[in-house]
Amino acid sequence: MSSTVNSRQQFHEEVVEGLSASPKTLPCKYFYDERGSKLFDQICELEDYYPTRADLEATRLNLDAIAERVGGRVRLVELGSGSSLKTQLLLERLDLTEYVPLDISIDHLEATAADLRARYPNLVVQPAAADYTKRVTLPDPVEPFRCTVVYFPGSTIGNFQPDEAVPFLARLAKLVQPNQQLGVEPGGVLIGVDLRKDAQRLERAYDDREGVTAKFNLNLLRHINRELGTEFPLDRFKHRAVWNAEEGRIEMHLVSEDDLEVEVGDSSFSFSKGEFIRSEVSYKYSREGFAELVAKAGLKVDQFWTDSQGLFSLQYLVPAD
Ligand code: TRP
Repeated sequence: MSSTVNSRQQFHEEVVEGLSASPKTLPCKYFYDERGSKLFDQICELEDYYPTRADLEATRLNLDAIAERVGGRVRLVELGSGSSLKTQLLLERLDLTEYVPLDISIDHLEATAADLRARYPNLVVQPAAADYTKRVTLPDPVEPFRCTVVYFPGSTIGNFQPDEAVPFLARLAKLVQPNQQLGVEPGGVLIGVDLRKDAQRLERAYDDREGVTAKFNLNLLRHINRELGTEFPLDRFKHRAVWNAEEGRIEMHLVSEDDLEVEVGDSSFSFSKGEFIRSEVSYKYSREGFAELVAKAGLKVDQFWTDSQGLFSLQYLVPAD
């Protein structure tokens, strides 16, 4: 994902920094090279990966309520490129002055923008290239609007550490603040949040029976080998997903099956047999736990919707004032 924006030097530094930590980690944004993006699309189709379907169902079931709550003349800002079916449901149902997809990949953005303009000739699509995890600056609005709604689907918020999630949510809160001079009313953040559930179901979602998530996780090492010329032996690392009950998160590990040395530029990193690199975390929240988190960011939960099985939530957060 970020390799389009970040230099190779930065990539190198981030890898060295991650491998110097204890336990070793790697920056998860480097999952998404071309192959990684394809594998991730496959993950989203898997029977074992329930969040995609649950998020879609939660959107479908509650579409009328969502439309009613967000109201008319909305500027909809999506964090991500908007190619999903869920987004289309919203674009068709909501009363929008414009749709602003934000994505790090310019290519991806332009492709989806062209697609959406063809599909919805009356919709104003204003894509903007941005790493929304760092900074969110919106393009100037093309038309006066009643309020801004930020849409952040897919439970990506679960991939943030809670102490990063709070300042991030606080920045989103700023985007939906009212502005009396411009006649802008308070808006909200429509966010997908995966909920706590039994460990077995969670572990299966992140270590599927078809082995796609394993390939996806290992692709991180492959990507690093290609970009940085390192020689991580791909056949000596195994994928593992574990539910960490204390932290309330799924952890993705790459477990070394041998004692190994891997050179990264001038630095050398040793792995003992059984040692793991933590490549990603996915926090799962209880309803109360997420409400506490957003309160720290100056937001409050205004609406809480779920799929029919209560696996996944769509929440509407508003400024707490
Ligand atoms: N936001 C997704 C999630 O946490 C991302 C994801 C799904 C993921 N499967 C993964 C990230 C496997 C890394 C590895 O559910």
